[in-house]
Amino acid sequence: MKTTDKEFEKLRDYMYDRFGINLSQKRVLIEGRLSSMLVQRGYKDFTSYIDDLMKDKTGQEASLLVSKLTTNFTYFLREAGHYDFMRDNVIKPMMEKNARQQLRIWSAASSSGEEPYSIAMTAADCLGFNRNIQVSIQASDISEHVLKLAREGVYAPDRVAQIPPSWLTKYFSKTKDGNFAVKSDIKRMITYQYFNLNDTIRWGQRIYDVVFCRNVMIYFDKPTRQALIKRLYDALTPGGYLLIGMSESLINLTTDFIYIQPSIYQRPAEKASRQETHL
Ligand SMILES: C[S@@+](CC[C@H](N)C(=O)[O-])C[C@H]1O[C@@H](n2cnc3c(N)ncnc32)[C@H](O)[C@@H]1O
Repeated sequence: MKTTDKEFEKLRDYMYDRFGINLSQKRVLIEGRLSSMLVQRGYKDFTSYIDDLMKDKTGQEASLLVSKLTTNFTYFLREAGHYDFMRDNVIKPMMEKNARQQLRIWSAASSSGEEPYSIAMTAADCLGFNRNIQVSIQASDISEHVLKLAREGVYAPDRVAQIPPSWLTKYFSKTKDGNFAVKSDIKRMITYQYFNLNDTIRWGQRIYDVVFCRNVMIYFDKPTRQALIKRLYDALTPGGYLLIGMSESLINLTTDFIYIQPSIYQRPAEKASRQETHL
């Protein structure tokens, strides 16, 4: 099924205005990914589908559209250096302080859960029996479909192939049908919610020690990325880290982030105030 110029423009503008997703060069992708769904659901053309999309107030239609037009591709311990970095530069220094602390992490495009579960397993493995550090992981995505899979936390054997065997034994149980279910003590560390990265972060500023925002900015154009980077900066605690996808960068964006190494940035730690310096 083909789009008319007007239909293509309507879909392109809707995706950009609502989600910041830039599909101006993706007409063929839109037609290719949506046609069979439209035919299956009895639509004769894109116009009648777009009318229903605009009328739907539940958000389900929009969520399904995003799932169709973006990829949810992810896997356990993807870009593994980020987990090692978090362990060595955030968790271990916290442990050395030997005091009660909160470690707060945000997986900002969590897809079907592999990323937040990898964060949780890395933290659990590093912390062992240390009860001083309370870990809370916020995981969010724009697709209700992947959020449901993430909450379930059950994966087929080929999906867990990257996980070290000792972690598989410790953090998963085998289901009757041969799949792997994340154990409840790992699940309890994570809260899932729907969140559109194009929206204002209303629940708090300066709270996260680490934000994983990986392999999602590729969908956004420069103004959208610029605005998002500012919001992520504000969400991080001073000294906190932003981790982006290995193929992404903040080049050409204006930001106060300090470049640490490819795909890793830090919000500067706050300098001690004059008064504190003199104490
Ligand atoms: C390729 S996956 C990346 C998953 C994971 N972060 C990783 O690196 O493996 C991209 C995810 O971004 C989500 N996404 C796309 N646009 C979004 C938006 N505006 N707000 C929040 N999530 C979005 C998609 O639903 C998808 O699950």
